[in-house]
Amino acid sequence: MSVTASAPAKVILTGEHFVVYGEPAVVMAINRMVYVSVEEASDSAITISSTLGVAGSFKPAGFVPLVGDLKTEKILNPIYIAAKSVLSFLGKRCGLNIKVDSKIPSSVGLGSSGAIAVATVAAVGALLKADFSREEIAGLPYEAEKYVHVKPSGIDQMICTYGGVIKFSKDKEISRLLTKVDIPLVIGNTGMQRTTGNLVSAVKAKHDAYPILMEQIIKSGGCVSNEAAEVLQNGDLDRLGDLMNINHGLLSAIGVSTESLDRLVNAARNAHALGAKLTGAGGGGCMIALSPPGNEDVIASAIDKAGGMPLKAKQTNDGVKTWVTK
Ligand code: MEV
Repeated sequence: MSVTASAPAKVILTGEHFVVYGEPAVVMAINRMVYVSVEEASDSAITISSTLGVAGSFKPAGFVPLVGDLKTEKILNPIYIAAKSVLSFLGKRCGLNIKVDSKIPSSVGLGSSGAIAVATVAAVGALLKADFSREEIAGLPYEAEKYVHVKPSGIDQMICTYGGVIKFSKDKEISRLLTKVDIPLVIGNTGMQRTTGNLVSAVKAKHDAYPILMEQIIKSGGCVSNEAAEVLQNGDLDRLGDLMNINHGLLSAIGVSTESLDRLVNAARNAHALGAKLTGAGGGGCMIALSPPGNEDVIASAIDKAGGMPLKAKQTNDGVKTWVTK
C-alpha cells in the first residue's frame, strides 16, 4: 500500500519574525502544493527521493547519497527527521520509501520545508494507520522544522495543516479568520534563495545588541497583526494594505529586507498596490503585494519589469490531506 499526502504553501500577511518572540502573525495558505507519497520498504532504510533532484538512503550504518551533490543529506535530513518523529511517536521500526513532489519554490519564504514536513508526517501516520488528529500532525514536524529554521515559531506547520487564513501566536490556540472578501495577492520572487535559520539568528543578534529598542519594534509588529486580523474580517483591503506597508517598514528596521525586495515592493506600490511587503524570513525570497481587485496583472508586470518573478496564487482553505494511492 502507498499513501500520498498534500499540504499547501503559505504567505505571511503580517508578523513574521515578531511571531518568534511571542507576538501574533496572520498567515494564509495558498494553492501551491507539495505531495509526499510513502510506502513500507523491504529493508530497514528510509529512502527519500525528491523532484528537487536529490535522493538518498538513511541506513542504520549512515547516509548513502543516490542522486545529488554534497548538499543532498542536508536537504533530505528534515524529511528523514519528520518520518522518524512519527516512527518513534508510534513506537514502530520499519523502512520507508518516500517520494516528494514539490510545486512550491524552495528557500524563498513560501513554507516549502514546513509543507513537506507536515505532508510527510501525515502520509507516514496514515500508512501506519495512526489516525492522527490535526494537532498531532501540526506538532510532530517540530524537530524537522527546528533543523531548518533554528528557532521556529511553528507558524508554517500550523498553516499547512489547517489551511485558510489564521491568526497564530506561539503557545496560544490558533484563530481561524473568516475573511469577507477575496484577498487579491501577487507574489514576487527575487529568485534569491536564503536560509530562514540564518535570518532568525541575525534578528536574535540584533535583539541581543539592542534589547529595549527591539522590544518596541517587536511589540509594534504584534500590534500590526492584531489590527490586520480585525480589518481582514471586516473586508477592509485599504487598511490591510496600509498595515502591510507599516509591517514592511518594521521588517526593514530589523534588517531583513534587501535592495531587491525593496525594489519589488516599490514597483508594486507604484503599480497601485494597496500595500506591499516582504513575506517570510526576508534576506531575499519573496514579497507580496495586495492588489485592488482586477489590478493583479498590472502589478505582476511591474514586478516582472523590476526584475522579479511574479507568481499567481490564491487562498486555499485546504490544509493537509491524505489518500491511499495503491
Ligand atoms: C518563517 O516562515 C517565518 C519566521 O517568522 C520564522 C518562524 O516563525 O518560524 C521568520
